[in-house]
Amino acid sequence: MRSAATIDAGDAFLWHAGGRRGNIQITWLGQVLCLPLPRRQCRIQTPKQAGMGMSRIELRVNGRDVEVEADGRTLLTHALRDHLRLTGTHIGCDTSQCGACTVHVDGKAVKSCTMLAVQAAGCDILTIEGLASGRELHPMQAAFNDFHGLQCGFCTPGMIMMAVDIVNRHGRPDEATVRAELEGNLCRCTGYHNIIKAVCAGAERMGEMA
Ligand code: FES
Ligand code: FES
Repeated sequence: MRSAATIDAGDAFLWHAGGRRGNIQITWLGQVLCLPLPRRQCRIQTPKQAGMGMSRIELRVNGRDVEVEADGRTLLTHALRDHLRLTGTHIGCDTSQCGACTVHVDGKAVKSCTMLAVQAAGCDILTIEGLASGRELHPMQAAFNDFHGLQCGFCTPGMIMMAVDIVNRHGRPDEATVRAELEGNLCRCTGYHNIIKAVCAGAERMGEMA
């Protein structure tokens, strides 16, 4: 069957599906050539065909039930920042390298650029905006402030969310544990020394309040 698209002017170069499985027949200047198909065929799908139509996604963020209308490809980080205007969750890489986008999903630290918003439907999400109690900083936030655990502050929300998760899992971790656990959170200002001190102090304070 000649189903093809004209690639070149003047009907001189046509391709069409046909011939043996895995091959493509090309008619070029009156000659039929049989060539292997590329290993991966490029198929263009509409968002609807790909199951990526707009959806209403119900989330619980910082204790509030919210709805986001987004397509199926929307990352949690974009839903938080662009749809809910919770811009304290930063995007440093979008490829799971830096940890600037760390939030808590059902109590566990998650890099929100690695998760689709639809995957978080029905989950309890905590962002840096939800950590303080009113005007009172969370003990980990206060420790970062007191120990100057930041320079430009870009990595800080992700560091703090990760630090709280570390303390939730380890109690009062030693310095080596904090360093190992913070491996996935990068500080471009390289202020790690004070960040580690802040996390250890924050862990002490969280322990005292428990
Ligand atoms: S923005 Fe998510 S890990 Fe860097
Ligand atoms: S304080 Fe600047 S990136 Fe960490």
